[in-house]
Amino acid sequence: MVTKHNKKYLSSQQRTNFITYSAVFHNTVKSRYLPFVKIPQEKIDEIRAASDIVDVISTRLQLKKRGKDYLGLCPFHQEKTPSFSVSPNKQMFYCFGCHRGGDVVKFVMEYEKSSYIEALEILAERAGISITRTEEAYESANETEKMYGVMSFAARAFFANLTKTTEGEFALNYFRERGFTNQTMTAFGLGYALRGWDSLLKLAQEEGIDPEQLEKVGLVRRRDDGGNYDTFRGRAMFPIFNTNGRVIAFGARKLYDDDNLGKYINSSETPIYHKSKVLYGLSQAKDAIRERDFVVLVEGYADLISVHQAGTKNIVASSGTALTSEQIQLVSRYTKNITLVYDADSAGANAMMRGVDIILEGGLDVRIVQLPEGEDPDSYVRKNGGKAFEELLKRSVTFIDYKANEFQRAGNFDSPEGKAEAVRGLVQSIAKIGDQLKRSFFIKEVAEKYNLYESMLYGELEKSTRRVPQKFVETVKTGIPEEERATNERKVLVGEIPMEEKEILSAVLEDPKEMIPFIFGNLHTEDFVHPTSKKIAELILSIFDETGDVDINHLLSLLSDDQEKTMIANITFNRYQLGERWNKIGGRPSETRLYDSALGSIKSLKKKRLEIDLAENRIQMKNAAVAGNDTMPFLKRQQEIHSLLKEVEKWKLTKG
Ligand code: CTP
Ligand code: MN
Repeated sequence: MVTKHNKKYLSSQQRTNFITYSAVFHNTVKSRYLPFVKIPQEKIDEIRAASDIVDVISTRLQLKKRGKDYLGLCPFHQEKTPSFSVSPNKQMFYCFGCHRGGDVVKFVMEYEKSSYIEALEILAERAGISITRTEEAYESANETEKMYGVMSFAARAFFANLTKTTEGEFALNYFRERGFTNQTMTAFGLGYALRGWDSLLKLAQEEGIDPEQLEKVGLVRRRDDGGNYDTFRGRAMFPIFNTNGRVIAFGARKLYDDDNLGKYINSSETPIYHKSKVLYGLSQAKDAIRERDFVVLVEGYADLISVHQAGTKNIVASSGTALTSEQIQLVSRYTKNITLVYDADSAGANAMMRGVDIILEGGLDVRIVQLPEGEDPDSYVRKNGGKAFEELLKRSVTFIDYKANEFQRAGNFDSPEGKAEAVRGLVQSIAKIGDQLKRSFFIKEVAEKYNLYESMLYGELEKSTRRVPQKFVETVKTGIPEEERATNERKVLVGEIPMEEKEILSAVLEDPKEMIPFIFGNLHTEDFVHPTSKKIAELILSIFDETGDVDINHLLSLLSDDQEKTMIANITFNRYQLGERWNKIGGRPSETRLYDSALGSIKSLKKKRLEIDLAENRIQMKNAAVAGNDTMPFLKRQQEIHSLLKEVEKWKLTKG
């Protein structure tokens, strides 16, 4: 059965409903399939040099001079007192409220919601620098840009199928029956993939897009005989956007009974789509998240859309994957508060338990909403409305209460053993929290609620924190080779960047010539626990090796990752604040201040590293003992690490 792409259109009555929204749609699916430019490095340097950050920003918002810097109301979050600062010397901006920061290009990207290339184009135009779009430029265009272009083409095609073809009416009715309005469908760029095997292929051909490019982003598959066919056929399409609002993947829901694939099929992983690093709905939700300073996290596409439409717009979904630490890091740019609303079934409860620990590990706060039996967020809002959903949010509970309820339901509180197990379960989650002060509040809460001694809880806590994270233990047990274990361990530890690592990098950037030899004479880049700070440290070292100094803007131009750039901005401005504080207190920073603070941080980092080694060694020793192997080498190693620890403790500054 080959269905040709159906070009019969809807009646004009049906169509007009959508016309009003087509502008919104083009805003939703921004990047169009145009020849792309690759801008040569010299051109980029020229554009940067011609774009003074204060000039560029002050045409977009009001800045007041304050000391060396400029201050204004942050355009990226709601605020009444200015915390957005721009430094002409450093050519950087940073907001002390929402922690966004970076260079002039980053500002334009955020402010204009544009891509890197588009931001450079905006700046070039302003400075009167011409960038030519040539055919060769198109050929050599950045592969990623091309993929975005293809995805955007597909999203537009699916939307047109939904709103303009007769075959699409079935899907349109499906969405309407789910209660989605035209405006909602447009805002989320929903669409329909025609049933034919080559509908998208043909449309692409008309626009001059090769099958090969469609294949790269998973929109078509290849047959054994070399021919291609559409991946998504006869399905309701949910485009997945990245934070900047570009389409990077699709979720596709089953519509027809004769469709034997799963209820949802999703795009495969591609260079522009890593599902563990994406949160569905974030690009539509980010302003609301900042404004309300919390985010609602649900599981499904439909859940998210229904709740969003009902008025709760600060919502994202972890669609198609169990919650990951990367997703938590992503959302932590907008808020530190997450409210989980998962399906009220046992799968939902399990997912929620795991989610809680991942969130706590990431350094964020979590609250939980329990839905009535048998409901998911979508069914709940459809039955009870948006107001009722907001009321539910108000009645969210802490993870302590949630876990305690779950244990109670399981009958744990009926016996002393069960109670002990429940308390241990609570403490294990508390142990995931990095912040000691916060931990102590929760310990207090549990002690009071269950009438237990705090000291006993601290004993339990000690046991849980001393233990190496569970995933790591498993890999040791399964005997995965050394190198892989190291990376596994790193993954467990992502989250906020440890204070001492920030301080070390901050000292390095303040005075690279003095600090690099001192710090990296005593510390190896391998000693950094957080992958981002480790990567930055390595980059700094390589720049230093090459040029004998480290220029922050040079460093920034070599980083492409958002988180890395933000971290540099954060470090530079924190350092500046520290300097200001010193000035206020009176005395000029003493000569050895940098050395003192660097040494303190080196010591504490070294100790952490050694403690991890110690824990790892302890497990290996235990495994050896269990297997009846020689434990002597591990005992020796243990003593070695202990004496290293003592040595580190004694490190002092020697002048000269
Ligand atoms: N999911 C998936 N693949 C499946 C089933 C589910 O990727 N085969 C993902 C989808 O992101 C889905 C989410 O898990 O939205 C939640 O699944 P489920 O609760 O089964 O679906 P609902 O969201 O309730 O879907 P619907 O309301 O459309 O039936
Ligand atoms: Mn559902």
